[in-house]
Amino acid sequence: ARAAKTVFVCQNCGATAPRWAGKCASCEEWNTLVEETDTGPPPGSGLTKASKGRAITLESLKGSSKRTPRIPTGLEELDRVTGGGLVPGSALLIGGEPGIGKSTLLLQLASAIAQRGGRSLYFSGEEAIDQVRLRAERLGLAEAPVGLAAETHLSTILATLDAEPSAQLIVIDSIQTLWSDTLEAAPGTVSQVRAATQSLIRHAKRHGATLLLVGHVTKEGQIAGPKVIEHMVDTVLYFEGESGHPFRILRAVKNRFGPTDEIGVFEMAGEGLRQVKNPSELFLGDRDASAPGTAVFAGIEGTRPLLVEIQALVAPSALGTPRRAVVGWDSNRLSMLLAVLDARCGVSFAQNDVYLNVAGGLKITEPAADLAAAAALLSSFSGKPLPPETVYFGEISLSGAVRAAANTAGRLKESQKLGFSSAVIPALGEIEATGISLDLSRLSHLKMLAERVTACD
Ligand code: TYD
Ligand code: MG
Repeated sequence: ARAAKTVFVCQNCGATAPRWAGKCASCEEWNTLVEETDTGPPPGSGLTKASKGRAITLESLKGSSKRTPRIPTGLEELDRVTGGGLVPGSALLIGGEPGIGKSTLLLQLASAIAQRGGRSLYFSGEEAIDQVRLRAERLGLAEAPVGLAAETHLSTILATLDAEPSAQLIVIDSIQTLWSDTLEAAPGTVSQVRAATQSLIRHAKRHGATLLLVGHVTKEGQIAGPKVIEHMVDTVLYFEGESGHPFRILRAVKNRFGPTDEIGVFEMAGEGLRQVKNPSELFLGDRDASAPGTAVFAGIEGTRPLLVEIQALVAPSALGTPRRAVVGWDSNRLSMLLAVLDARCGVSFAQNDVYLNVAGGLKITEPAADLAAAAALLSSFSGKPLPPETVYFGEISLSGAVRAAANTAGRLKESQKLGFSSAVIPALGEIEATGISLDLSRLSHLKMLAERVTACD
């Protein structure tokens, strides 16, 4: 056997260094290097016998391609995000902050699969069987035929899996808790997480099971996990939401078998996660349209239209440097909007604190939300409420021009469905739809919006 060598492994990105340093040379994170024993590549990695030294042509594969098989889970929101259900032999990582609802979601998923006749195994390394059972009871799933084990020892888990070769779904909650006695490194370190993930993926591929790994994301990035495993798995999902809000968004950030722009919307309720079939209704639920500073954005998440309220508060600043704060919005994008409003429309926020909030705990990344945010800002600034039954969308460029947005028809249809009567939208852009009865105002420049808002009563 070769002598064990010591290396320093960055717990953030997995890079190795021969000696310790305060900062990782690869990802530039501080205090992430931890001494670990270098065991070399795990056995079995590398080329398989059949493909050794042989190249195949694409042409010879013609006709052999099948559509990726899918196992629909019965949780439509999850199926939407994954691109149609679980892919046998694939590995998914689901990341999210502690307490967001990962264990709840996966227990519900495991039961859903079990109820459809598939075998699902749930390994909990964080909770005792009793705790899992209590949660299952609370979720009304105590009767579900899910195989449960409180286990963190990799070899034991692999042995359990070998005894159940027909399992369709394998859940590991969480990957950070696993340890293998063939490695000296502590549980949660990159070496352990990587080795465990590799073995589990190999098992899943061999048996055509779907592997679902839970990974905690810490703010400091000290615990090895998602960053390193993200490269090893086929699909990476993030489960996010604001604490204090019941809404949870499932998002794919990497997906070998489907789109990455779809979201699944859930609501955390007393009896677990409830799927939200019409998120617009929910996000607009308790809206007070009569107050200045709120505008409804007609957005698109993936293929699904989603209406959300954007709230702005502009208040005189008591400080030399006024405050800017955002929730669910990008702060650089807010700075840009304020600069454009100042330079192109003559509306200066220099003496004001500015707060921008996306209602319901949603994070908006779509540039088309600019126009709605600008409307909310202008409305709060002037103290004039916007007309209540109006939606806004359109990207704003640095020149103040309002740019066309994708899928205008989808946004308008959803707005109409939810009872809105008018829309303020970009001047350019074809509307590929019939039957739109909304009153449309088409703007080419942000100045036109500023004039409209100041003229509001
Ligand atoms: P959990 O799934 O344990 O989160 P994670 O695995 O991501 O750490 O869920 C944690 C929170 O969800 C917990 O604070 C309680 C809440 N919760 C409910 O509100 N209703 C429920 O039915 C369940 C099971 C949990
Ligand atoms: Mg958990």
